[in-house]
Amino acid sequence: MEKTFLMVKPDGVQRGLIGEIVRRFEQKGLQLVAAKLVQVSREQAERHYAEHVGKPFFDNLIKFITSGPVFAMVWQGDQVVALSRAMIGKTNSLEALPGTIRGDYAVHTNLNLIHGADSSESAEREIANFFRPEELLDYSKAVQTWI
Ligand code: PPS
Repeated sequence: MEKTFLMVKPDGVQRGLIGEIVRRFEQKGLQLVAAKLVQVSREQAERHYAEHVGKPFFDNLIKFITSGPVFAMVWQGDQVVALSRAMIGKTNSLEALPGTIRGDYAVHTNLNLIHGADSSESAEREIANFFRPEELLDYSKAVQTWI
């Protein structure tokens, strides 16, 4: 099953939106396999956003993502990378459609609440930057008598 890395950014944590964001992914039918609050270091942030080094917004982005706790998560499910990106909505808050997380809650493009990996390869790299392999749990032995 595909895995992705999602992260509620400092604005989402401070606005009390962790629960609402997790609820959306749970109710969609995706499975949470790891989650934790993290104070991101400058080095970790630079590794996470390495592909954007040199872009005009890079310094602000690093400053912002290290400005307070983030909620880092790993989710799994069928086509979870594309599905979660669709649920997050476009980066630009004016283009993010109602019904998406950013469309419903984000006003500013630079305070856009949540990050989602853009490919399976990025997800793998980003997961390794935030979680040790043993922190990713599995449901293979779950007893599902509640269904
Ligand atoms: S690009 O150049 O198209 O690849 O960039 P984009 O995918 O739009 O954005 C990359 C990440 O940078 C964030 N971003 C910004 N942060 C702060 N200020 C400004 N102006 C800004 N513009 C873009 C954007 O939210 C992306 O972060 P993530 O965490 O991947 O959503």
